[in-house]
Amino acid sequence: MRILVIGSGGREHAICWKLVQSPKTEKVYCAPGNAGIANVAECLDIAATDIDKLLKFAKEKYINLTVVGPEAPLCDGIVDAFRRENLPVFGPDKSSARLEGSKSFAKMFMMKNGIPTAASRGFTEEVQAIAHVKTLFTANPPPKGVVVKADGLAAGKGVILAYNLKEANDAINLCFRGTFGDAGKKVIIEDLLVGEETSILALTDGNTIVPLVTSQDHKRAGDRDTGPNTGGMGAYSPAPVVTEKMFQEIDEKVLQKFLKGIKDEKLYYRGIIYAGIMITAEGPKVLEFNVRFGDPETQAVLMRLESDLAEVMLKTSLGRLNEVKLKWTDEPAVCIVMASGGYPGSYKKGFPITGLEEAEATGAVVFHAGTAIQDGKIVNSGGRVLGVTAKGANIKDAIDNAYKAVNEIYWLECFFRKDIGHKALERKQ
Ligand code: AMP
Ligand code: GLY
Repeated sequence: MRILVIGSGGREHAICWKLVQSPKTEKVYCAPGNAGIANVAECLDIAATDIDKLLKFAKEKYINLTVVGPEAPLCDGIVDAFRRENLPVFGPDKSSARLEGSKSFAKMFMMKNGIPTAASRGFTEEVQAIAHVKTLFTANPPPKGVVVKADGLAAGKGVILAYNLKEANDAINLCFRGTFGDAGKKVIIEDLLVGEETSILALTDGNTIVPLVTSQDHKRAGDRDTGPNTGGMGAYSPAPVVTEKMFQEIDEKVLQKFLKGIKDEKLYYRGIIYAGIMITAEGPKVLEFNVRFGDPETQAVLMRLESDLAEVMLKTSLGRLNEVKLKWTDEPAVCIVMASGGYPGSYKKGFPITGLEEAEATGAVVFHAGTAIQDGKIVNSGGRVLGVTAKGANIKDAIDNAYKAVNEIYWLECFFRKDIGHKALERKQ
């Protein structure tokens, strides 16, 4: 099989790393890839959003399977373009990608299909949004808080938790001022949910849905979940907050209803659905849908996969997911993200990274995200730079193994969270 992977993050490095382990894989290309992906795949000088060039490349090279990593090309309709040419592609079409691209579409889909989620309302006029939060906060008793979301793709940044009326007004103001671009033309205001989060990823081909093992992300930049929201500072799998009973409840209330929803609405969906779920006192509630693998959840999850990913993805893209049975190791896996100083704000790039070989010599795998090669040296070139991933006999060992590798790596101003996996550890004690 000749496979084209689209994207350049740690998620795509993990996907390429796993794909090349398949005896069925002849060659993996990655557009555009990064310095680490270059060790396992041939990187192409084509942007992840340049659908015309990607399509041309796939036709010229007789690509058997294209795997789309990030949401942007999915929302732009890359799957529709590949389908028109009868090229197997892993991902949902443009219409289905609205589940991630439009929060109001996702909310409507959840309401229609009885999928539990926070109550919400959408507004295109700032005054009405302001009036709405005023009504909410003058109720007796007032809510614990509200969540203001810019409706559209905002790279994970268009969500603001507001704990009082002033914060809610400021958040609405920020959205309508254009801070999140077009994504702020409409805002969704929803109830604040309280609980612990988990990421539930599942494969689907529109007829069958197959959940992957559970995981948990760490969204905040600082230890003990403080500081600003990021794309994710680390992940582990499995997430013990999802007990067997909770998993069944999620399957029944979210995954099966999702599958019925896409069937009823005749949505073309052959890829991954990722439900961000809050486990509340009233049960699981969906915070958001993403139409692609999570980053850094994928790094931890794929470390545990024993099945042949190339075969699994090809079968999904051909609508034959019913033939797939996934095999996993029981060993937990942990991914620690190392980031450039200042992330998620501004940061300096171009610092040489040392200790990568020493880190991998410990047995960990170092997935690259924002790295590049400059004067023959690997340097940091993005906010999230590396995802250092390790397994262990139990969650504590996996955490220790991952940090042992992290401690070998250095570049100027790099930082990482010191408490990845703390919720799993606390639950165990
Ligand atoms: P989203 O992009 O919608 O997943 O939101 C990003 C993050 O904001 C989530 O992972 C949660 O941590 C938080 N969040 C979103 N919606 C809510 C909500 N209704 N209640 C509490 N936290 C939320
Ligand atoms: N880890 C969060 C995301 O991929 O959206």
